[in-house]
Amino acid sequence: MSEEIPGPPGLPFVGNVFDIDPNNTINSFSHLADKYGPIFKLSVGGQWRYFVAGFEPFSELTDDKRFRKGIAPALKQVRNGAGSGLFTAFHGEHDWEIAHRTLLPAFGPLPIQNMFDEMYDIASQLILKWARNGPGTPISVTDDFTRLTLDSIAICALDTRFNSFARTEQHPFVKAMVDFLVESGNRQNRPAVAQMFYREANKKYNDDINLMHSVAQEVLDRRRKNPSDKKDLLNAMVIGKDPKTGEQLSDENIMNNMITFLIAGHETTAGMLSFTTYYLLKNPSAYRRAQQEVDSVVGTGPVKYEHTKKLPFIEACLRETLRLEPTAPGFSREPSQGHDETLCGGKYLIPDGSKVFCLLQKIQRDPAVFGEDADEFKPERMLDENFQKLPGSSWKPFGTGPRGCIGRPFAWQEGVLALAMILQNFELRLADPGYQLHIKQTLTVKPADLYMYATPRGDHT
Ligand code: HEM
Repeated sequence: MSEEIPGPPGLPFVGNVFDIDPNNTINSFSHLADKYGPIFKLSVGGQWRYFVAGFEPFSELTDDKRFRKGIAPALKQVRNGAGSGLFTAFHGEHDWEIAHRTLLPAFGPLPIQNMFDEMYDIASQLILKWARNGPGTPISVTDDFTRLTLDSIAICALDTRFNSFARTEQHPFVKAMVDFLVESGNRQNRPAVAQMFYREANKKYNDDINLMHSVAQEVLDRRRKNPSDKKDLLNAMVIGKDPKTGEQLSDENIMNNMITFLIAGHETTAGMLSFTTYYLLKNPSAYRRAQQEVDSVVGTGPVKYEHTKKLPFIEACLRETLRLEPTAPGFSREPSQGHDETLCGGKYLIPDGSKVFCLLQKIQRDPAVFGEDADEFKPERMLDENFQKLPGSSWKPFGTGPRGCIGRPFAWQEGVLALAMILQNFELRLADPGYQLHIKQTLTVKPADLYMYATPRGDHT
């Protein structure tokens, strides 16, 4: 006999709606995990939703023979703009199968290396901006990292320069995408019947979707009219063939995935860089070690591709940051075999068709795996020799199984490169030395109100 999964008592009709802060759901779930333990349930919109916040039940959920990706309510809304693109496709959708097999090689080591020069170009724009601003201008850390990651993915997936560092107003595509994501988040919290009363919001939402699609269509038409041998993601989608069936991606599938790469590929990486900067600023010895590593491996010349493979401490800092602050804060799993499943060695029942949300921030801070100092930033524990010894499912910021992040090598190269260039060129300090970390949540999480100063280092050989 299975046991009742714990959870807060709900109210008639509305269930646990008042236990969740719609502006920071992750924070609410974390507090509930502190109270109810590594597995709990909530009644939302008349349905039970299950939450896992500890390593043990999570490691069962990563078993692809029993569970698979579930499309949670927020992602269902994102489908309104990104359709059956890789990120939002339902399990088994044909579009996903074709796009996955066609695009996986485009994220392999050589194609990612081929994107280095464009990533370098965009990162140089950030360095120039900070150098021009001078040491007395406060930098909004998340804003500038968002400019960096947006422009990098846009040039590789859309062959479009957003020029975010040169403009004060966002590119129309970016504005539409950001507003679309915010509204997708709002819609998941509204009952379906209430949705029709939001007429103005619905119109704006549809306009934003149309704008994203028309930009994607223009880009596609332009590339088809002017074929190039560029080895970018756009060409992988336009020219590539499914190695299994020989099929090509339909135009709709290409456009859905252009939008998908932009959505999935910018905020997560910008958040990773912002949190890493925060942790380095709060941990001077890690900061010094990271900077010394860059100085000894790169020196004062340009950062080259080969250098990015020789910066183990920088990589450990990124890994440790994503352990403490996974910028995609969770993902959903559902039973995959057409019958109910159990968790915690058979103790708790997960009915077929229900979704379990994996609360990564809690799972990756489980003291049973990371010890009593699990909440502390200690990049040493993520150096290769220690990282390899961690239990399989203890570090999963890029998701799991076939639905794990296809963009991981892209994000990694971009992140290591940007950090190396920043540490090589600047001394950073917090604008407010007493800054306490607090979180801004959309589909992803970022540090809120984080400002710093960047002083050029000059010649430091
Ligand atoms: C999937 C995290 C960067 C594209 C995922 C998933 C996670 C994740 C957790 C799985 C979601 C789920 O199971 O529902 C991250 C993090 C990133 C990052 C933390 C940066 C630090 C990127 C980049 C791209 C990208 C740069 C594009 C170039 C995707 C796509 C999927 C995905 C397309 C869906 C894969 C599929 O289901 O086939 N990512 N991501 N991500 N990510 Fe990333």
